Amino acid sequence: MINKKIMNIAIIGLGNIGGYLYKYLLSNKKILSKKNNCTPNIIFISAKNKNRKRKFKIDKKKWLNNYLEATQSKNVDIIVELIGGAEGPAKKLVFNALKNKKHVVTANKALIAKYGDQLSKIAETNNVNLEFEAAVCGGVPIIRSLKEGLIANKINRVYGIFNGTSNYILSTMDKKNEDFKNVLLNAKKLGYAESNPKSDLNGDDVAAKLKILSSLCFNSFIDKNIHVEGINFIDKADIDNANKLGYKIKLLGVSEILNKRIYQRVHPTLIKKSSYIASIDGVLNAVIVDGQPVGQNVIQGEGAGPEATTSALISDISSILRGNIKFPFSISSNERKKLKYKVISDRLFSAYLRFDVLDKPGVLSNITNIFSKNKVSIKRLIQNPSKTKKNSSIIIITHDSKDKSLNKIIKQIKKKSYIIKNPKLIRIGISN
Ligand SMILES: NC(=O)c1ccc[n+]([C@@H]2O[C@H](COP(=O)([O-])OP(=O)(O)OC[C@H]3O[C@@H](n4cnc5c(N)ncnc54)[C@H](OP(=O)(O)O)[C@@H]3O)[C@@H](O)[C@H]2O)c1
Repeated sequence: MINKKIMNIAIIGLGNIGGYLYKYLLSNKKILSKKNNCTPNIIFISAKNKNRKRKFKIDKKKWLNNYLEATQSKNVDIIVELIGGAEGPAKKLVFNALKNKKHVVTANKALIAKYGDQLSKIAETNNVNLEFEAAVCGGVPIIRSLKEGLIANKINRVYGIFNGTSNYILSTMDKKNEDFKNVLLNAKKLGYAESNPKSDLNGDDVAAKLKILSSLCFNSFIDKNIHVEGINFIDKADIDNANKLGYKIKLLGVSEILNKRIYQRVHPTLIKKSSYIASIDGVLNAVIVDGQPVGQNVIQGEGAGPEATTSALISDISSILRGNIKFPFSISSNERKKLKYKVISDRLFSAYLRFDVLDKPGVLSNITNIFSKNKVSIKRLIQNPSKTKKNSSIIIITHDSKDKSLNKIIKQIKKKSYIIKNPKLIRIGISN
């Protein structure tokens, strides 16, 4: 395999990403052949609808009516799966391809986060590659960095901004002083958000990427346990309050090992304006890895879109062209560990809590009483009465407190008759 001078590729899925990759591979075949000393030759293509109008010309002679034929053809070396989704055709294609000893390249985070452990065992048994650089943070080469450039390191924490759509929404709300709905509408028009951006906004997209990164960083199996909150509940007032207090709001994924336990969480976080991560705006992604002996390592770049994703896909394809067969998750499945997961309820966080209340006597003292009963001490309190003076917004910044106590306060105050909107809790900083 290592000495092959040509490798045959089947691209299945010709949408946003597959279409761009197809064109790119055709027009860059020569230079990629030179760089890899092996020619990437597209032998088959397939998608759902042969007659769909596409922005590019396809060679109908290469079209497979049944995409699964690619997994059985003796002539196919590499299958690139660009259909998407954890189940259905993508799952069938990737399982069959690996079972039939084909190398697989995929951009499918949902599939890898759910079935990555099973798939990597099949790939290892059959001595073929399963590559998924494009599944995590688009053009940011974090997976190759973890498997190669950072191989020396013992990593105890990985965190960052892993979703371009939510980062675009939060930073545009901040910079252009617009509300969530308007920014989301614009993001859809500009192609930054999909028509159904549910998993970008509810944190699930970041969760899938974080699970994959954790297992690569900690040499462990994929841990399905994770605390997930999205950005749907953040409004303009939160962004303004954060600014006044010297923070930016970012949707972060954070995974770390403490006392041999894994903590995985995704939630909006108030980050000091002066910090590096607060400066990552728009559709950019950034991954920060804390390891020994390297210290802190940062990689930033475009997190999505056909161009950035194709950059990652070509990196994976090139690795296979060069005969670089590796364990999909960095070490053999026989060596990967099952880590013990710990919920964040006993972790300490300073937090921002916001209560929109009827502005009447006794409310403030009732709220501060509930804080003291739950042993949460207040660092700062700001009261913003509305213009009509009928309502008021109370912002409280706490000292470090147990996450479960902060949540208990929210639960107790939520029931009060003076509450006019769901109270909010946003944690401050990465961790304590
Ligand atoms: N978009 C991004 O910025 C981005 C970034 C990183 C990773 N990804 C990942 O890349 C993958 C592809 O995303 P995309 O944005 O390119 O999606 P897309 O535009 O919706 O394209 C999906 C493709 O899959 C084909 N397909 C659907 N059902 C099929 C079936 N039953 N059999 C064969 N083909 C089928 C479609 O065929 P038709 O064309 O005939 O409808 C289409 O060509 C996903 O896993 C996604 O998570 C995307």
